[in-house]
Amino acid sequence: MLREFITSLLLLVSCGNAALHSRHNDTSSCSARTLHLSDPPYQDYFYSDCHVDAQAVVTSPLPNSNLSIIGPRFIVAWPAGNSGICTFFQPQSGINGSLAIELVNSTLGSPLGPVYHKTNQSAPPIVGVEGVLSFNDSAELPIAILGSVRNIRDFTEGPSLLSSVIQAGIKVTKYQHNGAKITRRWLDNVTTTTFTLVPWKNSDSHVRIHNKTLRFGSGFYHFTASFNYPQLKQLTPSQILNNQSQALVKQQPGTVSSLSFFSYTEKLLAGGWRFLTYFGRDSMISALLLQPILSTGNGSAIEAVIGAALERVNRTDGSVCHEETIGDYATFVNLQNNITSTAAGFTYPMIDTDYYLPILMARYFGSSPDRISPMLSTRAGTIDVSNANLTWGDLSYTTASKILNLTAAFEHNQTVENLIALKPDQIVGQWRDSTYGLANGRIPFDVNCALAPAALYAISSLAAIPGVYPNISITRDWATVAARRAKVWEDKTLQFFQHNMTTQTAETRLKQYTSKSTFYKGPTNGDSVSNYSTNGTVIDYGLAINSTATPEIIPISHTDTAFRHYLLNTTDEEQLTTFINASANAILRPFPAGLSTPVGVVVANPALSNNEVLIANFTNSAYHGTVVWSWQLALMAKGFERQLERCQGVNATDIPLSVTNAATIPQFCSDKGVFGALKKAYNKLWDIIDDNEEQLESEVWSWTYNDGSTRGFEFSPLGVLPPPPGVGGGTESDVRQLWSLTFLAVKRNKSFE
Ligand SMILES: *[C@@H]1O[C@H](CO)[C@@H](O)[C@H](O)[C@H]1NC(C)=O
Ligand SMILES: *[C@@H]1O[C@H](CO)[C@@H](O)[C@H](O)[C@H]1NC(C)=O
Ligand SMILES: *[C@@H]1O[C@H](CO)[C@@H](O)[C@H](O)[C@H]1NC(C)=O
Ligand SMILES: *[C@@H]1O[C@H](CO)[C@@H](O)[C@H](O)[C@H]1NC(C)=O
Ligand SMILES: *[C@@H]1O[C@H](CO)[C@@H](O)[C@H](O)[C@H]1NC(C)=O
Ligand SMILES: *[C@@H]1O[C@H](CO)[C@@H](O)[C@H](O)[C@H]1NC(C)=O
Ligand SMILES: *[C@@H]1O[C@H](CO)[C@@H](O)[C@H](O)[C@H]1NC(C)=O
Ligand SMILES: *[C@@H]1O[C@H](CO)[C@@H](O)[C@H](O)[C@H]1NC(C)=O
Ligand SMILES: *[C@@H]1O[C@H](CO)[C@@H](O)[C@H](O)[C@H]1NC(C)=O
Ligand SMILES: *[C@@H]1O[C@H](CO)[C@@H](O)[C@H](O)[C@H]1NC(C)=O
Ligand SMILES: *[C@@H]1O[C@H](CO)[C@@H](O)[C@H](O)[C@H]1NC(C)=O
Ligand SMILES: *[C@@H]1O[C@H](CO)[C@@H](O)[C@H](O)[C@H]1NC(C)=O
Repeated sequence: MLREFITSLLLLVSCGNAALHSRHNDTSSCSARTLHLSDPPYQDYFYSDCHVDAQAVVTSPLPNSNLSIIGPRFIVAWPAGNSGICTFFQPQSGINGSLAIELVNSTLGSPLGPVYHKTNQSAPPIVGVEGVLSFNDSAELPIAILGSVRNIRDFTEGPSLLSSVIQAGIKVTKYQHNGAKITRRWLDNVTTTTFTLVPWKNSDSHVRIHNKTLRFGSGFYHFTASFNYPQLKQLTPSQILNNQSQALVKQQPGTVSSLSFFSYTEKLLAGGWRFLTYFGRDSMISALLLQPILSTGNGSAIEAVIGAALERVNRTDGSVCHEETIGDYATFVNLQNNITSTAAGFTYPMIDTDYYLPILMARYFGSSPDRISPMLSTRAGTIDVSNANLTWGDLSYTTASKILNLTAAFEHNQTVENLIALKPDQIVGQWRDSTYGLANGRIPFDVNCALAPAALYAISSLAAIPGVYPNISITRDWATVAARRAKVWEDKTLQFFQHNMTTQTAETRLKQYTSKSTFYKGPTNGDSVSNYSTNGTVIDYGLAINSTATPEIIPISHTDTAFRHYLLNTTDEEQLTTFINASANAILRPFPAGLSTPVGVVVANPALSNNEVLIANFTNSAYHGTVVWSWQLALMAKGFERQLERCQGVNATDIPLSVTNAATIPQFCSDKGVFGALKKAYNKLWDIIDDNEEQLESEVWSWTYNDGSTRGFEFSPLGVLPPPPGVGGGTESDVRQLWSLTFLAVKRNKSFE
């Protein structure tokens, strides 16, 4: 069972303290914010002060760890340049599992302290963290990766890929009289990352160097991890939150502190340690769900999100950037393309990210119209130099133009060919962006049934506000064109994904699933099928449609229905009633009949698919398999809440409505069975959320099934499970993920109990 002990929240440490850190003396006041999260076999430490932001992760095998996956490892990751160091240790005895490492409190830090030196040689000061590592036995350090977290991830997530261009720069030298120093100059020829290790209160020991491998005895070692690179400017907890929400700083200090660690003036970061950089989808979904508590106006968190997305739009085709390539990895990628340049790169492999931008802009500008002109007149090019001489307004127009172009054909002819598919050269394209995330399907549910219509409504409302879109001769009628088109997308897409089976068929498939599953040995929960179905039929919506040429529905049950509940107030009564009933039933049925488990609602379930390939691939160790993602729980909770609110005559003011039905109460509200199922599902979901509070701020987690235990399901970190067939490495969850902090704003609505 994972326990996250927040041992030191918002702990204020004076880093100018001469007694502790005389060499770090600094005239300005510089207080540090630290956070320790225990997530065995990982221990995570966050450190921020006025000079540096860092996350350190110590991995030490537990007695029950799978030693082919978990070994002693120490990582320091910095948001600046998405940089880091990663060191792998092994016992000199060669007995796998015998070496344990730990970060301990010392006079250098509790446990992390700052490294800060101004130098004559480089403009940015040398910054980082230091502390004391404890080793229970003699150890060696054979592999160190210094530079970009992307290079580190290539190693930890790929099949242990080391890049020779990067590793060639590693220099190992003696340091002080008994220590060692590992350095690497980046490909930019300017920045150097340094890791040092020196015996600490351990005077007879030595760190010896054998062919770039460090060897040393058990005991304490002083480490430093530092680099000289321009730093980002973090937003403080109170800068992130609006006036009404300032109390959260004291009420939920750990969560707000994590949110602050991910929030900078220029962008928000997706998660730590693996994603301490811009991700379009993650930051926009987070901003949507957090909007009720986020600060607004110049320098606010929400403008950091919108501005970061606009700044990185592809000026040619309007695509919104998925991920940026910065720091040493940018130079590395340029070099692979035979270009000598440190310029950042921007990638556009996704098809969903474009749609979030107008949705977020419509919600923000709808409530802060005074910010339209300052934001949209901002000149682009500070980050993405190729956008110089355009404004953010120009880029926002190009994205809207792209969406209108892509959605035009379907308005006139509702065929599979006219639905939105993944880009031809990509195997992923929306949030389930792992190899098996969509079961190789090309036409995803979320983009077609929720994001496209919601974005069209948003473009319609933005186009109605003077000053949002330039080129008035073209955009004059966008308000009406986009609204009309939105309605078609809203009403005519769901039917492509719907599929049915009799309750009897469902029960038979569940028996087959449980008899074949390699990791689930519990009951079929087949009895829940007849209780939670529609007149003898299980109605479900596929995760995707396979392809235009073979338009089979991929029959995996999923939580992406939440996008539609959250983003749209649909008005086709029959369709809405069926959809509400079916998606509530999927939550009410326990796994494997449905999506609910005691450790969370799984994001995908192949149990009813009758398809051996899907069953083999969507496992409890697949990144987007029968696993639990915190933000999907938040999205579903908020989506159900919005639909329930419609029954009280409350329409969320930020969902653009088709004008004709704005005020009517939907028919499902007066269908006792359907309304009852929705309310019951809402409360069941919240009970599950409350039961798993300790996990909620992490990225993703999984479970194992144990016949012997009372509830069968046991929480498991995803990273400790062996990967599914054909996947190179397991996936380690981020201990904190931006969009998993959205429960700061998403709370149970007591009026639906
Ligand atoms: C640290 O800086 C302060 C302010 O400039 C100064 O008064 C103090 O003597 C300095 N301490 C050390 C140890 O250099
Ligand atoms: C290390 O120091 C922190 C901050 O003072 C404290 O909360 C924590 O309990 C200490 N850890 C140990 C193991 O003493
Ligand atoms: C760094 O220096 C090397 C050797 O002089 C040179 O080949 C390379 O182009 C330089 N890289 C950059 C990014 O300037
Ligand atoms: C040093 O390490 C390299 C690369 O791992 C290896 O090829 C070489 O044989 C080693 N040299 C010695 C003396 O062990
Ligand atoms: C921007 O879009 C154009 C047109 O689709 C494409 O050719 C170009 O490669 C894209 N830019 C980047 C950096 O991907
Ligand atoms: C870079 O140059 C090398 C050597 O000329 C060539 O083999 C390679 O194809 C080039 N790569 C790219 C991406 O242009
Ligand atoms: C944008 O800048 C480029 C050079 O940076 C210039 O060639 C081009 O004419 C400019 N375009 C506009 C519309 O100003
Ligand atoms: C959308 O289509 C119009 C008309 O073909 C074209 O002028 C415009 O450039 C397209 N927009 C984008 C972003 O490709
Ligand atoms: C709609 O598309 C289908 C398939 O491409 C085509 O056969 C049909 O003629 C189209 N209908 C209209 C009204 O354009
Ligand atoms: C599924 O069942 C519903 C309710 O009986 C029905 O309206 C719908 O047409 C069926 N869908 C399919 C694809 O058969
Ligand atoms: C089930 O069937 C009854 C009788 O035909 C019908 O009134 C009811 O609407 C159906 N329920 C749902 C949820 O479709
Ligand atoms: C799904 O589409 C792929 C092509 O994208 C095709 O190779 C495969 O046979 C299709 N699968 C099914 C079940 O139709």
